[in-house]
Amino acid sequence: MTEKRIKAVIPAAGLGTRFLPATKAMPKEMLPVVDKPAIQYVVEEAVASGIDDILIILGRNKNNISNHFDSVPELESNLANKGDHEKLRRVKAPTELADIHFVRQGEPKGLGHAVLRSRNHVGDSTFAVLLGDDLIDVRDTLLTKMIDENQKSGLTVIALMEVDPEHIHMYGAAAVEATDDPDVVRVTGLVEKPKKEDAPSNFAVIGRYVLNPGVFDILERTEPGKGGEIQLTDALQELAVTEGVLGVVFRGRRYDTGDRVDYIKAIVQLASDRDDLGPELRPWLKDFASQL
Ligand code: UTP
Repeated sequence: MTEKRIKAVIPAAGLGTRFLPATKAMPKEMLPVVDKPAIQYVVEEAVASGIDDILIILGRNKNNISNHFDSVPELESNLANKGDHEKLRRVKAPTELADIHFVRQGEPKGLGHAVLRSRNHVGDSTFAVLLGDDLIDVRDTLLTKMIDENQKSGLTVIALMEVDPEHIHMYGAAAVEATDDPDVVRVTGLVEKPKKEDAPSNFAVIGRYVLNPGVFDILERTEPGKGGEIQLTDALQELAVTEGVLGVVFRGRRYDTGDRVDYIKAIVQLASDRDDLGPELRPWLKDFASQL
């Protein structure tokens, strides 16, 4: 738990084109990971780090997400009448997690633009951003460490993960300097989706941020960058060279559910670790793998 409560923003307004046609009528953040939509894991992670006020940025197909965090009286009374308390608990859990608010992005003009849509709700305070398709395993705390680092230094904090240099072109890449803490680096520069030969390091920016409100003024004047989108990375680059940005290096389990192969890995890993599904799944998986 942290001393000062902050709000969280979860952008979930991207087009999710890598998952078409599954994402034609449903946001990718609602794809089920075992038996919960990806975004529910992300909300649970925010709550576990002490956050109780969450703003979700919605795009098209907005109702899917807002309905998930709302109650469904007919389903709840049906389960209650049957005495199916376990399923009733699972249906009600998302509605009881936190104080959840919604705002529309309108047009998907980029992650930076989505974050800017949270300005009225967040106001002049530090806030967390968690990408709705990026899962951090509950057993590996990351956000709590980032909030602590922000509270100690007063600086914006981003999450970094070392990736194979062959994959750095899919991420924002950070130029970094070491600090006294092996898990914390000073970020001296950022570049969005660089070619392998142009990447300043193989430290990739992953989907957790603790941002100072000064980022909003920068985003207001950030021009479209890579892919014609308003990039959060470009605004963070400006912050890195002005007031400074820290990076927390994450070495735990992360699942990018916006990517098809990572999505499948997430389901297999999470299901095989579960007490209710693992005992049946694990021997089957071993047998399946031995035939590959
Ligand atoms: P991605 O680049 O992974 O999302 O954005 P995308 O554009 O939907 O994915 P593909 O490449 O077409 O499959 C990272 C995060 O930012 C959100 C997305 O929902 C995702 O959580 N996002 C992106 C927005 O909310 N608005 C945008 O305009 C762009």
